[in-house]
Amino acid sequence: MSAIKFGVCGIGRIGIEHCRWFSDDSNQYKLEAVCDIAADRVAAAAARFGCKGYADFAAFLADPEIELAIIATRSLDHARSAAQALSAGKIVLLEKPIGVTAEDYTLLRQLVEKYPQRIYFCHNHRFEPAFMNAQAIVASGVLGRINVIKLCKHHIFMRRNDWQMRLDCGGGQLSVWGPHLIDQGLVLLGSPVRSVHSYLRRILTPGDGDDHVKITLVGENDTVAELEISNSAAIAGPYCTIYGDRGALTYEQDQKEIRLKHLAPAFRWEAATAAADSPTPGRPVSAEQELPWIEETRKVEPDTSMWIQVEIEIARHLYRAIRQQVPMPVKSSDALEVVRITEIVKRQNPQFAWIG
Ligand SMILES: NC(=O)c1ccc[n+]([C@@H]2O[C@H](COP(=O)([O-])OP(=O)(O)OC[C@H]3O[C@@H](n4cnc5c(N)ncnc54)[C@H](O)[C@@H]3O)[C@@H](O)[C@H]2O)c1
Repeated sequence: MSAIKFGVCGIGRIGIEHCRWFSDDSNQYKLEAVCDIAADRVAAAAARFGCKGYADFAAFLADPEIELAIIATRSLDHARSAAQALSAGKIVLLEKPIGVTAEDYTLLRQLVEKYPQRIYFCHNHRFEPAFMNAQAIVASGVLGRINVIKLCKHHIFMRRNDWQMRLDCGGGQLSVWGPHLIDQGLVLLGSPVRSVHSYLRRILTPGDGDDHVKITLVGENDTVAELEISNSAAIAGPYCTIYGDRGALTYEQDQKEIRLKHLAPAFRWEAATAAADSPTPGRPVSAEQELPWIEETRKVEPDTSMWIQVEIEIARHLYRAIRQQVPMPVKSSDALEVVRITEIVKRQNPQFAWIG
């Protein structure tokens, strides 16, 4: 099967990583060209990767050698750039946030409809090793029925001061980490969303963008996903905690190991009723004296850089989708649902000057 010849538009912090890691397996991908409005970035990347360089998006799209266009420019351009690339005949991998405005959301739905199997979405943090390990533990059933999921991306007083903290540039944490956490929350929720509650603030970060995001999703299955992103958490909380009716798991921001505590699989609750009496002073209020807990700490596998692994995994899945017609784990409907929820959150937080 032939390697996919790809081009990356936007050679910034993430675009350069896509150049590097998609090229990692030369059987799967060959970097054909890069494109950026910054001429020095184009020259440096073209020299580093031995590929063509374009300073103009239209010229980049006119290159017939490029089969896949990865769009990693600023967020506000994403949806429109994807439309241009698709109409030029390219397959597209679109960076998150895939859309920033209500108009983007409308356009993206049209593109997904018009170009099935031609547009894919870079929700690469779906493939964080710890997140995938946690999903496997949930699927094994040891935690029982999942009731509450907490996902927190905590930055320790990160006074980010670039375009990503300006709303007029499509910034704010709802756009920066929001798509990753909402996507992960939806996967763990495992059910359509019945309601969305949210409260956003700007606490510490320069710019007018939100830097503290709190979103609660309630699934039709009654499971609750609490999502929190903060630039101002002096003491970071766990990244993920999942509570089931037979146990819980948790892992920290470094995502190196998962702590598990669950009831022994053979244990069954005895029938119990709640009496109308007052409890006896000095006696336990719960019927059970001792529960058969199993506690363990598991190393996250593979033991590798999370940042590199998410790149390698999205590249691998995308190759299988394009060349072998294996469905992409990040479905278009998943990505559109993230934008739909983002739009609801924006409407619930009119204290911010959202564009569009
Ligand atoms: N999936 C992820 O893990 C991940 C990680 C980081 C960033 N991102 C997303 O990727 C996008 C880029 O983020 P970044 O941190 O790399 O930003 P960045 O500012 O570092 O890079 C953006 C690049 O795009 C170039 N550019 C801007 N307009 C252009 C145009 N019209 N044509 C060609 N090039 C243009 C800029 O010169 C710059 O080099 C953002 O939308 C961000 O949300 C995703």
